[in-house]
Amino acid sequence: MGLELQYADGQTPIDENEKEGLKIKSITTQGELDEFEQFNIEKAVEWTIHTNFKPERILTEEFIKDLHKKMFGDVWKWAGQFRRSDKNMGVSWMQIEIELKKLLDDTKYWIEKNTFSPEENAIRFKHRIVAIHCFPNGNGRHSRLIADIIMESIFGQEIFSWHQSNMVKAGDIRKKYITALRKADNGEIKPLIEFAKNRKANQ
Ligand SMILES: Nc1ncnc2c1ncn2[C@@H]1O[C@H](COP(=O)(O)OP(=O)(O)OP(=O)(O)O)[C@@H](O)[C@H]1O
Ligand SMILES: [Mg+2]
Repeated sequence: MGLELQYADGQTPIDENEKEGLKIKSITTQGELDEFEQFNIEKAVEWTIHTNFKPERILTEEFIKDLHKKMFGDVWKWAGQFRRSDKNMGVSWMQIEIELKKLLDDTKYWIEKNTFSPEENAIRFKHRIVAIHCFPNGNGRHSRLIADIIMESIFGQEIFSWHQSNMVKAGDIRKKYITALRKADNGEIKPLIEFAKNRKANQ
């Protein structure tokens, strides 16, 4: 029997080809998949907590891929590998490397020139990397964890509050999140920063 998945608003569907990359064949429902992925992500978060990343290591293609692999590698064979097909979101798959390179370079420049506050820097990075959509799936969760790593390991600041709530499931918090992302698409970055920072409102 195939894997039947349901998608919340703003989720990227996984195509049939990609479903074949499922490593745990006993998974047949969305709920089971969410659980296995969450368990894998928690292991990755542990790894990030116990590793002291040098700032220059974070802003590299290698790290971007490594982190995705740590987060999803127990569940998906294609974890840590860039997309090889187009999606309803993101750049054409052939543009991923070059767009990511531009983002990494821009971010290093912002840091060097103090262009933005730490929060704005991390959130601009998060919004752009999820807009590129490097991977077949898991881009949202990956982008949120990277924003936290940027805050902590590059700026020595407290991480954001999104880890406290379940952003994967549909609900009011997710609605707020997607609304803030759409505003950021239109150049208005503040609502996404506020969303990420606002502990009480997200609980
Ligand atoms: N209009 C948008 N602008 C920017 N980012 C968006 C937009 N719509 C969706 N996204 C991002 O894309 C993510 C969906 O991509 P994908 O399914 O690869 O990530 P995920 O980690 O599986 O999902 P999630 O973020 O829901 O946990 C959304 O969660 C959100 O972070
Ligand atoms: Mg998804």
